[in-house]
Amino acid sequence: MGAQKTILRALAGETLPTPPIWMMRQAGRYLPEYKATRAQAGDFLSLCYNPDLAAEVTLQPIRRYGFDAAILFADILLLPQALGADLWFVTGEGPRLSTITDQAGVDALKPADAIHDHLAPVYETVRILSRELPSETTLIGFAGSPWTVATYMIAGKGTPDQAPAHALKDENRVAFQGIIDRLTEATVEYLSMQIEAGAEVVKLFDSWAGSLKGADFTDFSIEPMRKITAALKARHPGIPVIAFPRGAGTGYVGAHAAIGADCIAFDDSVSAEWVAEHVQPGGCVQGNLASSHMVTGGDTLVSETRRIVDALSNGPHIFNLGHGITPDADPENVTLMIETVRNG
Ligand code: CP3
Repeated sequence: MGAQKTILRALAGETLPTPPIWMMRQAGRYLPEYKATRAQAGDFLSLCYNPDLAAEVTLQPIRRYGFDAAILFADILLLPQALGADLWFVTGEGPRLSTITDQAGVDALKPADAIHDHLAPVYETVRILSRELPSETTLIGFAGSPWTVATYMIAGKGTPDQAPAHALKDENRVAFQGIIDRLTEATVEYLSMQIEAGAEVVKLFDSWAGSLKGADFTDFSIEPMRKITAALKARHPGIPVIAFPRGAGTGYVGAHAAIGADCIAFDDSVSAEWVAEHVQPGGCVQGNLASSHMVTGGDTLVSETRRIVDALSNGPHIFNLGHGITPDADPENVTLMIETVRNG
């Protein structure tokens, strides 16, 4: 029997008359119900580690909009925390972590199979969701890619150009490669447990892939994602993988095959027409609508949405944004986007 859920059909390579839809950061601060549950949890990390409340915020956008997929509510930085890093969030500024600057920092990380106690609440969230989601909704698990997670572990925070990670890569290749390898192993363990708990698809977020140039892009974006995908597919035959090498530009060409991924998510720095010609022949694609349209709405939102749907209509496509929806977005614009995708 073939996969029935629309997202799974698109991931299997089927061209559907209407693309299924979900949205990066669909559970987030643009929704009043998210803000209420987050306030109830106390802070962002307490929300991530409370399975009932994390499942609740994951379900909120499904109830409100009927998206075709739900993405587990968690964060890519929970994994470094499970490996022993300190992690906290500064309101209005973003994440902070203890930093790794040398081999001693790499050696101090916990082994990959020691992460599960710390991450048990995340697996419990997945179990709750796989019970509670509507039967037509696909559950997506996720992790950060090793490079993107490493940029935060090395700098101790988000950086506009990922300069500290580039510096360690160029000055101490052994320690840098050590971090990438440890994260690659731990990500396989983490995503395997999400799949065992009920995730039907997994996505790798390489949000900072665009700052890796030339051979570095191949070695530190593509290669770790290829290893993770191969290991997951060996353990869980048939599990679909979405990879998001954000900002890859021409690096999107051939990315399905290079990573072994079923779907490549792409940002808004390339056009949907270009992706249809150069990327979609490799498999399912997802993404592109600029998140800013969720703030501005109106005729431009409608015309841009139609343009993406039309451009990608001759191959497998999941409708999504080019990056996460922002806190200043208007929830009504999400309704307008969904109606435009579904009703033309
Ligand atoms: O997409 C989803 O809805 C699933 C949940 C999810 C979150 N973060 C929740 C979140 C996912 C998939 C992520 C991924 C993530 N986290 C990435 C990669 C994707 C991307 O957006 O580029 C990165 C780089 C992070 C690290 C991170 N987490 C940062 C830099 C921040 C602060 C930025 C901000 O928007 O404030 C977070 C916090 C975070 N993660 C929020 C949410 C909903 C906002 C937290 C809040 O409620 O205050």
